[in-house]
Amino acid sequence: MRQGSYSAIAKGFHWLTVLAVLFMLATGFLMTYRGGDLGIWDALTNWLYSSHKLVGFTILWFTTLRLVNRLLAGAPAIDPPLHPLQRVVAAATHWALYALLVVLPLLGWTAVSLFPARQVFDWFSLPALTAPDKETYKLVAAWHETAAFVLIAVAALHIAGALFHLLVKRDGVFQRMWPGR
Ligand code: HEM
Repeated sequence: MRQGSYSAIAKGFHWLTVLAVLFMLATGFLMTYRGGDLGIWDALTNWLYSSHKLVGFTILWFTTLRLVNRLLAGAPAIDPPLHPLQRVVAAATHWALYALLVVLPLLGWTAVSLFPARQVFDWFSLPALTAPDKETYKLVAAWHETAAFVLIAVAALHIAGALFHLLVKRDGVFQRMWPGR
């Protein structure tokens, strides 16, 4: 079945986000393991923390632009329309992913303001969102970690849905976001 496709801009935003989130999960788990669990504070751990802050901060503004594009351009219609239940699950998953891509970086940014550890390489310091407070830092860092696990769960549901369209329903819905169509 031939479906309308997302614009090149929407596809670019989507696949760059996938790469950036994979990078964030890898650096996030590795840096806390090296720094927090093993107590190794060398150049590599510092590099991981700085790049995690830099890419995460970029994701926040990138997602804001992406949301503006999505709200202005909408999504191409699916023909024939999906079952209402599938439509609700798909929409809930998509909007939860957008929300997490804003909330997660904001929690990270709040955590580094509270610690404080706002320096990114020796290039610049992120603006402080709040005054330093070590106790609140622990709480916000734990929320940040929980939100990362929620993101993994929702992304898994999203990927399962995409593969269901590609392999079971074969209705062209998957191809709408695939590059080069
Ligand atoms: C989509 C964006 C983000 C994702 C997916 C993400 C993911 C993660 C993950 C998986 C961890 C490891 C959690 C753990 O096991 O303890 C982590 C830790 C951390 N992240 Fe992020 N993060 C994001 C954005 C940010 C941003 C924007 C900042 C700061 C500007 C940030 C700062 C931190 C810090 C400081 C930690 C260590 C917290 C601790 O001490 O336990 N993150 N992040």
